[in-house]
Amino acid sequence: MTDDVNLIPAPLTVERGESAPARVALDERTTLDAGPGTGSTARWLRAALGAATGLPLADGPGPYAIRLRISEEVAREHGPEGYRLSTRGPADGSAGGAAVVIEGGGPAGVFWGAQTLRQLLGPEAYRKAPVADGPWELPAVTVQDGPRFGWRGLLLDVSRHFLPKDDVLRQLDLLAAHKLNVFHFHLTDDQGWRIEIKRHPRLTEVGAWRARTKWGHRASPLWTETPYGGFYTQDDIREIVAYAAERHITVVPEIDLPGHAQAAIAAYPELGNTDVVDTASLTVWDTWGINPNVLAPTEAVLRFYEGVFEEVLDLFPSTFVHVGGDECPKDQWKASPAAQARIKELGVGDEDGLQSWFIRHFDRWLAARGRRLIGWDEILEGGLAEGAAVSSWRGYAGGIAAAEAGHDVVMCPEQQVYLDHRQAPGEDEPMPIGYVRTLEDVYRFEPVPPGLSPEAAAHILGTQANVWTEVMENRSRVDYQVFPRLAAFAEVAWSALPAPEARDYTGFARRMDTHYRRLDALGVDYRPPAGPHPRQRRPGVLGRPLEGTPPIV
Ligand code: ACM
Repeated sequence: MTDDVNLIPAPLTVERGESAPARVALDERTTLDAGPGTGSTARWLRAALGAATGLPLADGPGPYAIRLRISEEVAREHGPEGYRLSTRGPADGSAGGAAVVIEGGGPAGVFWGAQTLRQLLGPEAYRKAPVADGPWELPAVTVQDGPRFGWRGLLLDVSRHFLPKDDVLRQLDLLAAHKLNVFHFHLTDDQGWRIEIKRHPRLTEVGAWRARTKWGHRASPLWTETPYGGFYTQDDIREIVAYAAERHITVVPEIDLPGHAQAAIAAYPELGNTDVVDTASLTVWDTWGINPNVLAPTEAVLRFYEGVFEEVLDLFPSTFVHVGGDECPKDQWKASPAAQARIKELGVGDEDGLQSWFIRHFDRWLAARGRRLIGWDEILEGGLAEGAAVSSWRGYAGGIAAAEAGHDVVMCPEQQVYLDHRQAPGEDEPMPIGYVRTLEDVYRFEPVPPGLSPEAAAHILGTQANVWTEVMENRSRVDYQVFPRLAAFAEVAWSALPAPEARDYTGFARRMDTHYRRLDALGVDYRPPAGPHPRQRRPGVLGRPLEGTPPIV
């Protein structure tokens, strides 16, 4: 790859022009010539490049056009998300010409090609307002490209800390800039219910708010002693889903059950195991960890959550709907005479059987509505529901077992791609929890474990990085944990990389020099390669507090 073509994620091929002029430029004459099916990309280009350059980018064909087309040939070669981008004009010399041609295998391919065009224009093309008059030059290249995986995702947990709608929209722009196409929206958990459900208003009236918040790691003795919360209205959700769709990103909603449900139980105590817990006195949880307060295995609870999912399906067109299924302690079901009676009545054997009963119910319920269930790998316990897909988070094992049994899998092992984990050793990381997982570690993550049969490997839909926000209380902290590692992750998910040990990390790091400048222009608070900026260091919030260190708010 040449010096000025520092693309991330790396494309399949880049060919340099021999006879073409060294560079073409965008200027006042540049137009957007959008063919059928490419309208959303034209809108995006006009908004993004128009803001950065100040150029009008009027509609229309001509010799200075950026021509956007859908091409069956590209679809055959690189799939619906693939594209071919040429800054050397139309290969067939077609009448009227064009300065830049982007041909996608489908509408998404055209959009990913447009993202590459923005990278080729240089870091200043990422600004929200022009800082220079140009010239907006492009190297003379032909790029051929297409993704390795169809599921290239990021999970964002908005329960532990709430991210306002505008920050979610910005996050979607950052995903698009990295050619990621799935936004797994973790909307409910013990610490907050974040989506308005019209028929159950207390889910947000009560469940979206907690009295105080743990500051730092679970073991930290520090608290922010103010009420905390927030939620998205159904209009907010519609806006987020539409904004994502314009960027060819699917929003997969997660409503976690039967565990991670204390916020829901605090709102509606009858959802809990009332014969063993005084659920009426439960509040939304204010600390982190695995919570014993799980849903009661009753028909009424099923009906309640069917009502929730009916509203969720109206809002989210995604085929996959995530039902959680992780970390559901069975202690209350063991102690509860009502739950034990249910085990007998349903003939499910034991408490694991109750967990499967929940998951199977919603698997059938979703399938009857043309959707597919996806859940964390615990849904394997007690028998995996037919047709269900698995997010493999406790390492590779759950994903391997599920794929070998013919289920689709998204690989997101916590040991590799949990971005809440620290990026470097050392006490000056802002909140250094978990494993040390460096930029290079993420770059060498391989979503398809060796030894899978080809049939099983075909069930690996792709991969996602997960952002759990216990120690990320605002957008800046999310940025710091997510970047730059998301750039490495995007290359793992998109590019045709060799085996982990053969990957050219040095070359990637060199391309990152340019990518950091793109992130600067986007205003991303990434972790600088040299280590945290002094203002990001927060000693004393990590379970080993320094004497007398006050909470930083
Ligand atoms: C998870 O991290 N509990 C899915």
